[in-house]
Amino acid sequence: MKVLEITGGKELTGTIRVSGSKNSCVALIPAAILADGNVTICNVPEITDTDALSEILEYLGAGIKRDKERIEIDPTTLKNKAIPERISKKLRASYYFMGSLLGKYKHVEMYFPGGCSIGERPINLHLKGFESLGATVSNDGDKFVVDAKELHGANIYLDIASVGATINIMLAAARVIDNAAQEPEIVNVATFLNNMGAKIRGAGTNRVVIEGVDELSGCFHEVIPDRIEAGTYSIIGALIGNNLKIDNIIPEHIESLTSKLLEVGVDVELGDDYLVVSKPKKFRPTKIKTLGYPGFPTDLQQPFTVLLTQCEGKSKVVETIFENRFMHIPYLNKMGANIQVENMEATVSGPTELKGCEVEATDLRAGACMVAAALIADGVTVITNIEHILRGYEDIVEKLNKVGAKITLKEI
Ligand code: EPU
Repeated sequence: MKVLEITGGKELTGTIRVSGSKNSCVALIPAAILADGNVTICNVPEITDTDALSEILEYLGAGIKRDKERIEIDPTTLKNKAIPERISKKLRASYYFMGSLLGKYKHVEMYFPGGCSIGERPINLHLKGFESLGATVSNDGDKFVVDAKELHGANIYLDIASVGATINIMLAAARVIDNAAQEPEIVNVATFLNNMGAKIRGAGTNRVVIEGVDELSGCFHEVIPDRIEAGTYSIIGALIGNNLKIDNIIPEHIESLTSKLLEVGVDVELGDDYLVVSKPKKFRPTKIKTLGYPGFPTDLQQPFTVLLTQCEGKSKVVETIFENRFMHIPYLNKMGANIQVENMEATVSGPTELKGCEVEATDLRAGACMVAAALIADGVTVITNIEHILRGYEDIVEKLNKVGAKITLKEI
């Protein structure tokens, strides 16, 4: 078993460079199969989620050349066949093969995806979208078969502005998606498809309009910086940074976070593609409510909660996206925090001193939360189940140690 051993209390200073966006890339790799020629994607983070998607592409017979943060995909050799349960379940984003295989071959067989257990996470809206385009969906337990003689454009209204459903339906080529999610990752995928020759307008607004085209060519594309990684390190900088620079970011993508950091009293200096953050003398309490973009991201709720444990007075967290995204709270309390959870709301009373102990990364962002807590805790924290963290944060140990942290990845 791999664990992280973190000695807390080390001030962080220097520069952390943010990698390419996980949630963008995990859609871009499956989307590559829509092209009729070679696709090159650069700024791909080296994380286990992108490895798992490459494994699916390889299984399907696509050509893949990976050289660090650059991946070249030749989809022309791909044979459409059922994606086995073992690899479908390695991550959530395997569901993007539904949209892309359906869009290209009008047929897809795969299993319900895996990913973080942060709620029920159904895929009914994805399937409803495919059905509106003329596909039939059948399932036997977790195995899904989606088939269409022909796909036709359709106007689709999403009951919930789902990131996954918006992208998946875009891959299968709807005509109009209303109540679309507006996350930057959706814009990045639309830009990628447009680079191939697609005609997609409105990505980033709640109405995406797609004009059908007969073929898509190979292209070159760059992944946007990971706004959640940027946000995680900004929170860590606010907790224990001294002029910690978070570089290679798009500041507008994390505005909901930086405005909260300023509100609690953190010193934030914003540049064109970076920010510099330092720990203040004291933190004011606040309330955060998770929302779709541009609201406060659910993916930063867990790391931000560590900051709230250091605020003077009562703070609140309202989670509105995933019903089971408070699994980090018992571990923060074990470290000395004072947090009460009722339904999807948490009340954090602070400030509290955190003490190192053994904790678990129950999911990816809970893992980031544990790292943030361990960095400010007194003594040594051991984090188990860190496979979750490695799925989404490229070189997290190296990046943090370079700016002064004391973290060791151990095999026990
Ligand atoms: N939902 C449905 N039916 C559906 C689809 C979604 O009821 O068919 C519900 C979900 O259960 C949830 C809400 O709609 O309550 C929003 O879910 P959404 O579909 O937007 O989330 P997702 O596509 O499963 C992506 C990211 C998550 C991120 C969310 C919200 C990927 C691979 N995952 O998930 O990222 O939290 O959007 O921004 O892009 C993470 O990186 O740690 C992570 C969990």
